[in-house]
Amino acid sequence: MQLKSVVSALVLAASFALAAPASAQFANPEAAIKYRQSALTVMGANVGRLGAMVQGRVPFDAARAQAAAKIAAAVAHVPWEGFIANSYSGNTKAKADIAANMAEFNQMADKAAAEVDKLPAAAGNLDSLKAQMGAVGAACKTCHDKYRNQ
Ligand code: HEC
Repeated sequence: MQLKSVVSALVLAASFALAAPASAQFANPEAAIKYRQSALTVMGANVGRLGAMVQGRVPFDAARAQAAAKIAAAVAHVPWEGFIANSYSGNTKAKADIAANMAEFNQMADKAAAEVDKLPAAAGNLDSLKAQMGAVGAACKTCHDKYRNQ
């Protein structure tokens, strides 16, 4: 390798290193906040569509329910990696004490994701959807009550 390309390889490596401190996955805390909020928005919108059917605000439609359930399940495991160190101030409703309670927070996240995972199988009829939405709603609420600002 010529000296010039060695130098440019080192500069490149250094610039990646500079981008790394927030975590291996995100350039900075703002990027992590945006990532988790985006995933939560997609999950929430689809759980909301199911909620509207369960509450009778929208007529139950098995095909549409299953489509929403599949999208919710596809992203249910996504938001949590965005809860990184130093991402609990600024444009976020996440409470700062998540950082000190990561084990419990992740347990609540796993529980909610596991309940959302069961939605596609339950969405074929209104009774099973109602039952599973009860479990999903409780799992979301447990964490929001403790770790999300209103
Ligand atoms: C382990 C904790 C936890 C669980 C479980 C959880 N949430 Fe949240 N949720 C949060 C936190 C914390 C925020 C605030 C995130 C932020 O602002 O950075 C949030 C924010 C949201 C938002 C707003 C996103 C935005 O900023 O626009 C929606 C929608 C949402 N959650 C839906 C849900 C649904 C639906 C469930 C259940 C399937 C759920 N959440 C389960 C912790 C949780």
